[in-house]
Amino acid sequence: MPTTDTPQTAREATAARLLKISAGTSYDPDVDIDWRAPLDPGRMYAPEHRLSLAGTPLWDGLTREQRVELSKHEVASIASVGIWFEMLLMRLLLRHVSDQDPRTGHVQYALTEIGDECRHSIMFARMIEAFGTPAYRPAPLERALGKYLGATAGGVQTFAAALIAEEILDALQREAMADDSLQPLVRMVSRIHVVEEARHIRYARDELARQVAGAGPVSLAYSRLMIGRAAWTVTHSLIHPGAYAAVGLDPAEARAVAWRNPAFRETLRWSAERITTYLQELGLVAGPAKRLWRSSALL
Ligand SMILES: [Fe+2]
Ligand SMILES: [Fe+2]
Repeated sequence: MPTTDTPQTAREATAARLLKISAGTSYDPDVDIDWRAPLDPGRMYAPEHRLSLAGTPLWDGLTREQRVELSKHEVASIASVGIWFEMLLMRLLLRHVSDQDPRTGHVQYALTEIGDECRHSIMFARMIEAFGTPAYRPAPLERALGKYLGATAGGVQTFAAALIAEEILDALQREAMADDSLQPLVRMVSRIHVVEEARHIRYARDELARQVAGAGPVSLAYSRLMIGRAAWTVTHSLIHPGAYAAVGLDPAEARAVAWRNPAFRETLRWSAERITTYLQELGLVAGPAKRLWRSSALL
């Protein structure tokens, strides 16, 4: 319940606003998406300039059909990793509120967000099913680190990690939903996700600032490293090497080409720009963790 304590009052004010918006604009992908509409074989699944190989000699050697196919597998890979992150975020949010007063708006909004993420993961899963691609997953080490984070993360790590994944996806999806040359299914899924994620981002940004203000120096130093490593996991997991193999490319070679591709590195940096700047303002991108941010292609 709100008290005279300032952070608590601010926390409840944010939650009240977000609960109201959630009640007004929430989607049910089951009814809001026409899952029977066929995919258009001629349309790309993502803007060409955002694909990881665009602009490289490997890309120049692909036919139009291979490029469309690669765009499908890259979107499927990002959506699959999105599901993995959302499942992790649901665990982190549950841990965050488990011991708090369920009468507060802060707890009720966290539960509302878990409900959103639950529907998002089903929506992404159905989209991947409709694509007919594999559900790509992060590498075993990244999955193990995710389990560790899921079991141990405190508030600073929870909301910083959530924001890195949410803001990168948000930037890519805002562009996709506005591009009328793309597959309508990708545009609709993107639009639903962008609308509902806007409030998740608000919730996490406000709460992260409060969590940082309440954290001690030792815990902040540890959090910086964990957050930097989470950023590394996000950028390195987005495009699974299997996406390249699906169009007949050597997966290891294509992955190396993508990571050297200045256009792809710029896409990663651009997609994370808002959250990188915000975390820098909060002092969370500093010290030894900066190396992780650089090797994530985000600085
Ligand atoms: Fe989501
Ligand atoms: Fe979210």
